[in-house]
Amino acid sequence: MFHLAWFLNGYSVSHWHGHYAGINKTEWAKPDLYVDLTRSLERAGFDALFIEDTTMIDDTYGGSMEAALKYGIMAPKNDPMPLVPLLAHQSKHIGLVSTVSTIQYHPFLAARLGATLDHLTEGRFGFNVVTSVSHRVAQNFGFDEHLPHAERYAMAEEWLDAVGALWNSWEPDALVLDEETPMFADHTKVHTVDFEGTYFRTRGPLSTVPGPQHRPVVAQAGNSGPGRDLAARNADMMLALANTPEGMKEIREDMHRRLRSYGRNPDDFKIFFMCQVYLGETDDDARRTHAAEEAVRFSEEGIVRQLWTMSYASGGVVDYSTLDLDAPLPDTLGNGETTTMKALLEGAGTVTLRDRVMGPNKYGYDFIGSSDSVAAQMDEVMQEMGGDGYLIFGSTRRTKIAEITDGLAPALRRRGLIRESYDEPTFRQNLLAF
Ligand SMILES: Cc1cc2nc3c(=O)[nH]c(=O)nc-3n(C[C@H](O)[C@H](O)[C@H](O)COP(=O)(O)O)c2cc1C
Repeated sequence: MFHLAWFLNGYSVSHWHGHYAGINKTEWAKPDLYVDLTRSLERAGFDALFIEDTTMIDDTYGGSMEAALKYGIMAPKNDPMPLVPLLAHQSKHIGLVSTVSTIQYHPFLAARLGATLDHLTEGRFGFNVVTSVSHRVAQNFGFDEHLPHAERYAMAEEWLDAVGALWNSWEPDALVLDEETPMFADHTKVHTVDFEGTYFRTRGPLSTVPGPQHRPVVAQAGNSGPGRDLAARNADMMLALANTPEGMKEIREDMHRRLRSYGRNPDDFKIFFMCQVYLGETDDDARRTHAAEEAVRFSEEGIVRQLWTMSYASGGVVDYSTLDLDAPLPDTLGNGETTTMKALLEGAGTVTLRDRVMGPNKYGYDFIGSSDSVAAQMDEVMQEMGGDGYLIFGSTRRTKIAEITDGLAPALRRRGLIRESYDEPTFRQNLLAF
């Protein structure tokens, strides 16, 4: 058995024109699309809906916001946190993971928000902890520019220590709730944390009672060395990027080594590998779907989107609009998403930028076929890498949602590969159930 999570590319205007775009261009900010999505995912047995977030209109590409705003690339984007209780109210079991940046939220604010959302979701909340990528995000929060990669991770380690200390500032039996005495809470079991770090200070205790999970599920998506350590020390789930089963296996084995070195049991940690799914009634139909989606990626807009994404993911270091498409691709990892850049720069020095943008998708593993054949492929890859789950790169396009939740998921269920039901009361317990 394996787990499934859905990657929603922000509470944002994603698929707003083209085939089956519906009226997303005007509806994306309203709740219904996300409620429909969450209910569909829950019927299909997904462990989690994962909502990406960033807070900038990036202008690395071309030194201008033009492309971002013309095409709607990673902007506009609404705050995903208020969406969480709304989705929780319309579902019963699925985990809801929302992104929090360690440069945007003070630990006290984050600990309080996490605990509150854990109450409002009745134990189904998770934080995707990120360090943010772009100077433009950092500048929106008062920095001159974003910190170097290594320092961002040092800050994130400290942030998670502070947030964790605040969640632990209430002992499990601090709530007495005795009407006779009367005593609501026992003050000897609620403690200050007196956290003094390089980046953050907080006195505590948390002025909110921890939620049903006590510590909301923590997810982490950076796959560099420091990213892996941050996940191994603090996270329950990791979002990982690899284009081959061997690459997935390498990450999993390395993470298990790191988890053990921090005294943790690898069974208490689940890795979700990013994948793209192209479905059709038959394998031939699916290949046509794939070809049609690739044609969009290779269109004028699609190429700008790819170059824009590379410029953003470099952390503002390379403006790919200025590079010669036919010159060799420079091997510059940059100061942003080094994992994503590593995947995108495969073959750098020998392949050209044109080869890259006109070549195969590098953002995770591609599954192409009918529901039954993709179910078989997913099974085979999972057996090869050893577990734990897939993060399906989703969309707000309803045809895509239906193909996966009403086509692929039942095919996986028939093979006994995904859950039939949610047997535990909280997100973490369901996540760790197998
Ligand atoms: C699957 C995936 C999802 C991510 N989601 C976000 C996000 O929502 N917001 C964000 O600022 N960064 C996001 N990132 C970036 C990472 O959190 C991380 O900051 C970045 O990859 C740099 O770390 P690395 O060099 O260790 O990869 C994501 C990365 C991956 C691979």
